[in-house]
Amino acid sequence: MAKRVGFATRMGAIAAAVGSAVGLGNIWRFPYEAGVNGGGAFILVYICCILVMGIPVILSEFVIGRSTHSNMKAALKQLSPGKKYYLFTYVCILGSFVVIGFYSVVCGWIIEYLYQAAMGQLSGHSAQEYNDMFSSLVANPWRCVGWTVLFLVFNFMVMSRGIEKGIERVSSIMMPLLFLILIIFCIKALFLPGVSRGLKFLFYPDFSQLTLRGVLDAFGQAFLSLSIGISCLVTYGSYFKDDISLVKDATMVGVLDTLVAILSGVMIFPAVFSFGVEPTAGPRLIFEVLPGIFQQMTGGYFWALLFFLLVFFASLTSTISLSEIPITFMIEERKMSRPRAIAWTAVFTFALAVVAALSFNVLEDVKIFGKSIFDAMDYAASNIFMLMGGVFTAVYVGWIMDRKVLHDQLTNGGRLKGKSESYFVFCLRYVAPVSIIFIFLYLTGII
Ligand code: PFF
Repeated sequence: MAKRVGFATRMGAIAAAVGSAVGLGNIWRFPYEAGVNGGGAFILVYICCILVMGIPVILSEFVIGRSTHSNMKAALKQLSPGKKYYLFTYVCILGSFVVIGFYSVVCGWIIEYLYQAAMGQLSGHSAQEYNDMFSSLVANPWRCVGWTVLFLVFNFMVMSRGIEKGIERVSSIMMPLLFLILIIFCIKALFLPGVSRGLKFLFYPDFSQLTLRGVLDAFGQAFLSLSIGISCLVTYGSYFKDDISLVKDATMVGVLDTLVAILSGVMIFPAVFSFGVEPTAGPRLIFEVLPGIFQQMTGGYFWALLFFLLVFFASLTSTISLSEIPITFMIEERKMSRPRAIAWTAVFTFALAVVAALSFNVLEDVKIFGKSIFDAMDYAASNIFMLMGGVFTAVYVGWIMDRKVLHDQLTNGGRLKGKSESYFVFCLRYVAPVSIIFIFLYLTGII
């Protein structure tokens, strides 16, 4: 097995995990999911998911990783010798490809908007024109595929040159900056004419708008946003030093990630109601709304450029952590060299991403269970792979893994008090199985 080194500092460890968690899931997907599912009630359910499942699953992944200092497969073999739980790793790898496949298409859109911003073409248009601008981007296979491929080339170049650590260091400056800029945009949004309708939509829980599908979406969104369920955070956990508090770090990742998602909502919804965009616009929502916000700001050109640049870096740290899942597996379990593992990962990723990009134009008529390929991948990634994977992880740590390992990891071998242990054990043991029964009944159409 490759020699493993730990994160030098606790901040470094947290920054890397937050770097993976904060990405398009928060800025692009959270507002549109909230919009499609009626706003306030969805957000309330979302926050409950983070508390009862999200943070406990982050913790479980950290525990599996740090207690073994290995990748998911080796860890499960070590923790449950002679059992077949390690086969779950293959589901994680498949899941990571599905996520990165559709995710990199959206990263491609971000580069297009970054380019448009740099060219000064994002300002001076009406809401309808912003709508048309997005439609013409996705309708054009060359542009859509071109930007996606460019993003992936960039992603794998960073990985093959071994400069992800450099990128992570850059993003430890970029992330706080992104946070700051979101706050500035939120303040700006609070002066838009649609502010009261926007905030009401976001924070007033109208349960008549919430469906069972919305509850499932909230779970899926929470898991995608936190990067849990496909073993990504197991890898991070495996690099953690033995003296950091896993409970504190898991909570910190969960809270910061949720804060970024909510801030994105506060930035978007007042603008949605001010510019007459439909809150249910779906994946195109932020691309229709953001340029309108920049336009209202002094120095809009600069803000637009800075915003898309920061979102680009946030997405890059997420795709790096995603690609690392199959790459680490191939290196450590298949004994491949790093360049070879990267090459194989790149081949599969390119294939899936190109198909996803074409599903808006050339492959528009191809439907999987009534959804376009992109939508089907997006749905399968969060509502099936990550959700099921997260629940498996929780049940495994709560019921199957030796309880002593969990106790040791939560208390650092008895050195910490571990006051919250019973809370986490309760969530992992009871909330997780109940949720999986709910998901199963829903997916099979029984409820
Ligand atoms: N959490 C990332 C986001 O919110 O954009 C997406 C992601 C990264 C999902 C890494 C899964 C993962 F393993």
